Amino acid sequence: MFAVYAAEFSSDDPLSGLVVGERPDPVAPEGWTTVTVKAASLNHHDLWSLRGVGLKQEALPMILGCDAAGLDEDGNEVVVHAVVSDPSWRGDETLDPRRSLLSERHQGTFADKVVVPRGNVVPKPASLSFEEAACLPTAWLTAYRMLFTQGGLKAGDTVLVQGAGGGVATALITLGRAAGLKVLATSRDEAKRARALEIGAHEVFESGARLPVKVDAVMETVGRATWTHSIRSLRPGGKIVISGTTSGPNLDDAELTRIFFLQLQVIGSTMGTRAELASLVTMLDATGTRPLLDRVLPMADAREGFAAMAEGDVFGKVVLTR
Ligand SMILES: NC(=O)c1ccc[n+]([C@@H]2O[C@H](COP(=O)([O-])OP(=O)(O)OC[C@H]3O[C@@H](n4cnc5c(N)ncnc54)[C@H](OP(=O)(O)O)[C@@H]3O)[C@@H](O)[C@H]2O)c1
Repeated sequence: MFAVYAAEFSSDDPLSGLVVGERPDPVAPEGWTTVTVKAASLNHHDLWSLRGVGLKQEALPMILGCDAAGLDEDGNEVVVHAVVSDPSWRGDETLDPRRSLLSERHQGTFADKVVVPRGNVVPKPASLSFEEAACLPTAWLTAYRMLFTQGGLKAGDTVLVQGAGGGVATALITLGRAAGLKVLATSRDEAKRARALEIGAHEVFESGARLPVKVDAVMETVGRATWTHSIRSLRPGGKIVISGTTSGPNLDDAELTRIFFLQLQVIGSTMGTRAELASLVTMLDATGTRPLLDRVLPMADAREGFAAMAEGDVFGKVVLTR
């Protein structure tokens, strides 16, 4: 079958190990099902995989891609849940120490077909296109869990989203607005600040700028570059929810004094559960909110999408179609 896969790793030139070619058709093990892929979307995770982060040499060649929407074996339209937990695991699968994401241990979604555990598909409403649905399982699910599960935010609360241009950040802004939150966002880039306003931020600020109000929660994916600002922007008892460290994980000053004195909460967040993915899909169906697509490319042109992401030249999701 047609597939986009990692044949080797390179930390300096990740695209050198990317192959757009053919791989054997997958065989679904007992309890798994085959999904015919109609659309898939790119994540930074796919670039990290080509750099050899989170993927073992012996797993190569590995079909890339965590996110997909397509047709199940009965022709039903489905969204694929990317978190694969151990068959013996019960409860929140993001807490399973043996969980993996598609394309880490099991072949990924950038192909004609992908096999997943039967429980890893969620019905796709007709109101969402395959391209839109394919954006949800990683960046959008991460944003959903950060805001509503880990952040516990509800209509009327005020949230700050750091680094407005990222895939998770754009999802945070759009979902936050749709849920009735007051959304503040920062970006280093004026054009990205303008786009953030277009997709739902109420107010935008330069990275590090003093805010006019203290916020109930900050959504962090930038890390080192914005941490101090995040801590200083919170009201007493506020929450910082962190799911990534794009600018690096190490801090000169973790602001520990402020954390205990103002009784702040620091909460980690990773991906989401199948139930949260189903809730996210229902939320989009009910509100009419849609993921922002940076571009849609035929899967055969995947290299172009990878190059744009590697250069940071995207606002919203890069979608690949079959
Ligand atoms: N835990 C999970 O389940 C999960 C899931 C998905 C992603 N992630 C992680 O979340 C992070 C965000 O990923 P992403 O793909 O959404 O976005 P991204 O493209 O990695 O970048 C996010 C934003 O970071 C800001 N940024 C980068 N360097 C900066 C610096 N030196 N100073 C200030 N801002 C800086 C940029 O904002 P501006 O240019 O607008 O200032 C950029 O738009 C990544 O670390 C990713 O690995 C985690």
